[in-house]
Amino acid sequence: MAGWRAVVGVGGGIAAYKAAELVRALSQRGIQSTVVMTAAAQEFIRPLTFAALSGRKVITTLFGSTPDEVLASSVEHIAVAREHDILIVAPATADLLGKFANGLADDFLSTLYLAFDRQVLLAPSMNTAMWLHPATQANAAALRARGNVVMEPEAGELACGETGPGRLPEPGRIAEEAHYLLARRHDLDGETVLVTAGPTREPIDPVRFLSNRSSGKMGYALAEAAAWRGARVILVSGPVELEPPLHVELVRVETAREMRDAVLSRLPECSIVIKSAAVADYHVANVPTQKLKKTATRLSLELDPTPDILAECGAEIERAQRGQLLIGFAAETENVVAEARRKLKAKRCHMVVANNVAAEGLGFESDENEVTLVTQAGDVIEVPRASKREIADRILDEALRLRLALYSRS
Ligand code: PMT
Repeated sequence: MAGWRAVVGVGGGIAAYKAAELVRALSQRGIQSTVVMTAAAQEFIRPLTFAALSGRKVITTLFGSTPDEVLASSVEHIAVAREHDILIVAPATADLLGKFANGLADDFLSTLYLAFDRQVLLAPSMNTAMWLHPATQANAAALRARGNVVMEPEAGELACGETGPGRLPEPGRIAEEAHYLLARRHDLDGETVLVTAGPTREPIDPVRFLSNRSSGKMGYALAEAAAWRGARVILVSGPVELEPPLHVELVRVETAREMRDAVLSRLPECSIVIKSAAVADYHVANVPTQKLKKTATRLSLELDPTPDILAECGAEIERAQRGQLLIGFAAETENVVAEARRKLKAKRCHMVVANNVAAEGLGFESDENEVTLVTQAGDVIEVPRASKREIADRILDEALRLRLALYSRS
């Protein structure tokens, strides 16, 4: 993924210092930055900070001070425009949005904007009334209509003391959006992918629950990978600590019953269903309404099975005959492939992702995984250890290949 180059344009707003965090967040994603500062931005933060963080010269003026510099810089904005893959402006002030929308070009950043013919990402930040003013809204709408991505500012308390929309989106979120714009592909355009992720929680009483160690990382990686490949993504998630990926619809659930209801109600609109959640297999039969009192005697819980969501999806997909693809997971500690084959058949899946959760540093909670894909076409595909995000892409690659194989036969 490395090798992308971004121009980070910094406007003159109180959030200008956050552009430094953005340069760092981009670099962590393998995206190198060249920073361009407006004159107003330099009132808020010094170019040296950005030079140190980006390891590159920071562009601060359209024209240099000596005749040679003037000659060189007269075409610099064109060269910078051609050498970079994305222009990110953060903070994008009301003034910059107005200039960009109306084609005004009187400094380096605004001339660069006009010369830039690739992806543009604008992260506005300003006072709420300024953001909501019809002039600013019209400028943002004109820029969006032109294909620029204008992020929504976050709502909260602003530097001016007022509260409302106008805060710069978090630098990590801006970097994520930039990464998405650079990396997105289109082989899942037109698909709706439903992913389940994380654990479920089955209450024991109003304050205690049964659950498991699933962090949601595998499911969230799948949701992000599908979104970055063009799919509309519905992420049905149990309680986890993760931020949902951008561009996915998040449906939060707690119990297996809630997950079942959410999945089955959205099933008709999906073309691919991936069940990576670690659903509790049992729930407490009769949950007391009051907290259980601690006593010296042994406590037994009476458990009933939870609904088998994967099996219900398999039956419904077979009945409806909409050409939907069902992918289950199998977390196993032994006989991994044999168990995956058994689940493939019993739950009428098209593919089962077998996860050996006994291996050190893999499976639950880890950033990496190693899986075996067992398909209805009879293939057994070993996917060696890699990040969950890379594994997610491999699962989607094989899902598309499998669908071609299964449906070109029928
Ligand atoms: O969340 P992470 O920390 O990243 O960990 C990832 C993971 C290990 C949880 C994931 O990779 C994984 O293996 N998920 C499946 C875990 C699991 O519950 O496996 P299982 O063999 O018990 O269930 C088989 C399949 O049936 C799964 O697709 C599961 O979602 C589904 N199921 C299970 C029980 C139930 N009542 N309903 C279901 O639909």
